[in-house]
Amino acid sequence: MAYSWDKSLETGNITIDNQHKSIIESINNLLDACSQGKGRSEVENTLKFLQDYVVKHFSDEEKLQLKSNYPDYKAHREKHEAFKKTVSEIAEEFNKNGASIQLVAKVNSSVAGWLISHIKSEDKKVAAHIKASSQK
Ligand SMILES: [Fe+2]
Repeated sequence: MAYSWDKSLETGNITIDNQHKSIIESINNLLDACSQGKGRSEVENTLKFLQDYVVKHFSDEEKLQLKSNYPDYKAHREKHEAFKKTVSEIAEEFNKNGASIQLVAKVNSSVAGWLISHIKSEDKKVAAHIKASSQK
């Protein structure tokens, strides 16, 4: 199953939205690589891309939060850290057991599922705050 970006995920901040679109695309690439039996190096490449891109995205998003004095910065950052840990654990699990059904299930629930609910609940608040503070 492929994930797609739609209006329900729109935060209204173009930088954040574009990066979210890229993360969703890279989750789809990872799931494709796992389910189409594309071989170890393809899964490794997509996993590495996702990991690096998530780090970059969180860092950019956290900078925007700091710049706009986002009041919930600390708690939000902790959520990002926990997610980075989850992605690392998935990479470790892949190194141990390969692209198993359990791994694909974890990517669906703990990566795609987490991201979608994080965008809807947390990142929308961030984008609204950035917008409000830029209009002051
Ligand atoms: Fe976030």
